[in-house]
Amino acid sequence: MTAPHIYVTRSLPGNSLSALHSNELPAVESPPDTPEPPSRAELLSGVAGAEAVLSMVTDRIDAEFLEAAGPQLKIVANMGVGYDNIDLHAAAQRAVTITNTPGVLDDAVADLTMGLLLGSVRRIAEADRFIRSGTAWTWGPRDFVGLDVSAGAVLGIVGLGRIGMAVARRAQAFGMRILATGSRATSEEARALGVVPSTLDDLLPHIDVLSLHCPLDPSTRHLISAAQMQSMRPGSWLINTARGPLVDEEALADALENGHLAGAGLDVHEFEPQVNERLMALDQVVLLPHIGSAGDATRHRMATLAARNIAEVLAGRGPLTPVAL
Ligand code: DGY
Repeated sequence: MTAPHIYVTRSLPGNSLSALHSNELPAVESPPDTPEPPSRAELLSGVAGAEAVLSMVTDRIDAEFLEAAGPQLKIVANMGVGYDNIDLHAAAQRAVTITNTPGVLDDAVADLTMGLLLGSVRRIAEADRFIRSGTAWTWGPRDFVGLDVSAGAVLGIVGLGRIGMAVARRAQAFGMRILATGSRATSEEARALGVVPSTLDDLLPHIDVLSLHCPLDPSTRHLISAAQMQSMRPGSWLINTARGPLVDEEALADALENGHLAGAGLDVHEFEPQVNERLMALDQVVLLPHIGSAGDATRHRMATLAARNIAEVLAGRGPLTPVAL
């Protein structure tokens, strides 16, 4: 029996590929340890003849990629909970199993969300830049005043799923009141946290901070656009650790420049890895390079779960965390 070709598109942390080094499966060669993702040409040549792919959320997995792989391809295991980089229709047509990594990154993303939220509304990044500018300063009663989240500020969570709930638990501990949309907004746990279930249109005028936690698909692209921003309270904030295209960034820049919104914290960007230049010019915007899941243990768990999905499928068993096609 010839060894199956498993294509791993990026170098992964530590020994996270150990699930693939079993008796049933051959050792997998890790890709070169480069900071850059593979080019499109490298992806298409790398996947040729593969039976399994361990892909990243930055790899575009479409009909062309699946064709380049060939008919023996059984599984694409995406290292991420999001899978908007994958054309599910093209995968279904070729009977390729798709898996993601739900459940192992909720806390890491929720921690980062709270960090970004506090960093934005308490102006931490802006104050850090101020210190580094070398400007002379003393303590001042009106300097760097931001939003007191613990005085009952209202958080709107769009998409109260696993990650949204982890954010709700943290926000509640910080003393925030919470309105939320999404599958778990009416659950027992949400009720216990004092979450008030809502719709997007109903919650926007009543919140101080909006935090997005829904998947990106054609129905959620530009979910937050000029009209939604206009419905938000003057002086409110937008936090996005989900997917960039949920937000119309030009409309966001307008709402920030004209002072309707007080600020924003963005871990993800509409045209990633490009960052909107108008947003970059604004001091009230905190910008991060998509690091929501970048906790050491979390990244290891994500890679391991993706590898285990491949091991299961190549061994003829069902995947652990399949995406419905
Ligand atoms: C995910 O899991 O979808 C994240 O965005 C990757 O860090």
